[in-house]
Amino acid sequence: MQPKALLIFFIFFSLLISIHSKYIHEVEDKEEVVIKRSMFPDNFIFGVGTSAYQIEGAYLEDGKSLSNWDVFTHVPGNIESGENGDVADDHYHHYMEDIQKLEYLGVNAYRFSISWTRILPRGRFGETNPSGVLFYNNIIDNVLLKGIQPFVTIHHNDIPQELEDRYGSWLSSEIQEDFVLFAKTCFENFGDRVKYWVTINEPNINAILAYMEGAFPPRRCSAPFGNCSVGNSNMEPLIVAHNMLISHAKAVKVYRDQFQPKQGGSIGIVVHAFHYERYTDDEWGFQAVERAYAFNLAWLIDPLIYGDYPAIMRKYIGKELPNFSIEEVKLVKGSVDFVGLNHYTSFYAIDCLHHSTDCTPSEHRPVKGFTARTGSRDGIPIGDEMGMFGFHVVPHGMEKLLNYINMRYPNLSIYITENGYCPPYYQVGTQMLSDFKRIKYHEAYLAALSKAMREGAKVKGYFAWSFMDNFEWLQGYNISFGLYFVDRKTMERIPRLSAKWYSEFIANGEISIISSF
Ligand code: NOJ
Repeated sequence: MQPKALLIFFIFFSLLISIHSKYIHEVEDKEEVVIKRSMFPDNFIFGVGTSAYQIEGAYLEDGKSLSNWDVFTHVPGNIESGENGDVADDHYHHYMEDIQKLEYLGVNAYRFSISWTRILPRGRFGETNPSGVLFYNNIIDNVLLKGIQPFVTIHHNDIPQELEDRYGSWLSSEIQEDFVLFAKTCFENFGDRVKYWVTINEPNINAILAYMEGAFPPRRCSAPFGNCSVGNSNMEPLIVAHNMLISHAKAVKVYRDQFQPKQGGSIGIVVHAFHYERYTDDEWGFQAVERAYAFNLAWLIDPLIYGDYPAIMRKYIGKELPNFSIEEVKLVKGSVDFVGLNHYTSFYAIDCLHHSTDCTPSEHRPVKGFTARTGSRDGIPIGDEMGMFGFHVVPHGMEKLLNYINMRYPNLSIYITENGYCPPYYQVGTQMLSDFKRIKYHEAYLAALSKAMREGAKVKGYFAWSFMDNFEWLQGYNISFGLYFVDRKTMERIPRLSAKWYSEFIANGEISIISSF
């Protein structure tokens, strides 16, 4: 080779090497993660989830009565854009088509909830509605025909309005009798085929949103937490959660005494679980994280495992925290075969005992453990912004949360009953079908889940939220969590790229991601 050609070759070669090593360096910085189906046990559940009010529609059809959400959404101003669940995804009339889509996804379980007002329109003050029972029998039979296990939530936010009007629903201990009847009716009618039961979805979120902030029905709260005509934000969330725990435990006793021995299913509860990071790197910051976890999560799970609320809650709340009687402790303690975690995001926990200048007035009360939460520190967000207010993409939060659970409740079986992504409002248009960010979200959270399992977390299943776009409570149809897009005019369900991705992943795909979150 001529010396000139040799020189050109040498320069070109060194350039290549330097580009390549720069690329490798960047990749290493970002941490490459491989996630594949085979990293999870063969019998691991991969499912999708929905809930009755969010998808069914047919709000007064075939004997169904008005629920609290039917009434609430019809009050002008309560829901963004004045929307409601009267029609929702019209799943009531499209359920066979929807079950075909579940089959396409290849999921081995489908999480859905039972509308109380379809089954017992007047609670214990009326009869069981056979059309309601028939509807869920059809769903259960048809998913089973496709080899998909029904994973059934008994109560997911919607309750007969009559129970609200008669005695104030969850504020009264009378609800326990109604809930047990509802649960028993479900076990009797569906328990021969349903092997996974969830009693109540997210008692911790509902108690806070409905009775502290007054954002959900029945809109009860007191200043400075919110602007309601009635309520007591310090006391009522605690009473409501207490009634939910006892109602849950009584329903579990009925199941275990009368149905489980023959039907052989398992039963648990679902709680919403945020992960918390330190806001300040001092001892107070560390303690704030402990308190935030205790007041938001252990609040529900400690009684179910250990028979009482966390000691730190007793310390700060004092006598306003309800007590369990000796009989109730016996009922509640050990009343779960598993706990479901709905996990989406993480926050920084601000210490309001010593750094109170960082706390907004409404958040640092005893009922929140003198902590507030924020999604950014020093102006830097904790992760990519999502469409749900305050939510960010923080995959490692999944791992840390599961480490916390595994340390505090070492033998507890866990399902991730919800995990999902909604694009910020301004991205909705462009993100409609090519939802790369949703795919990246699930990949990164699954990688963190798999890591937590290798570190000891006893997780048995994962449900993507949501199967399809649906009525997202206060935000109506402005927020989309769905693997399927639903055209609201035609009711056509259109698979997003994420639906394709999930089905390929479940069918043993191997996905290599470079985590950029
Ligand atoms: C949890 C709730 O269970 C579900 O109903 C809701 O749609 C999702 N979070 C997203 O906000």
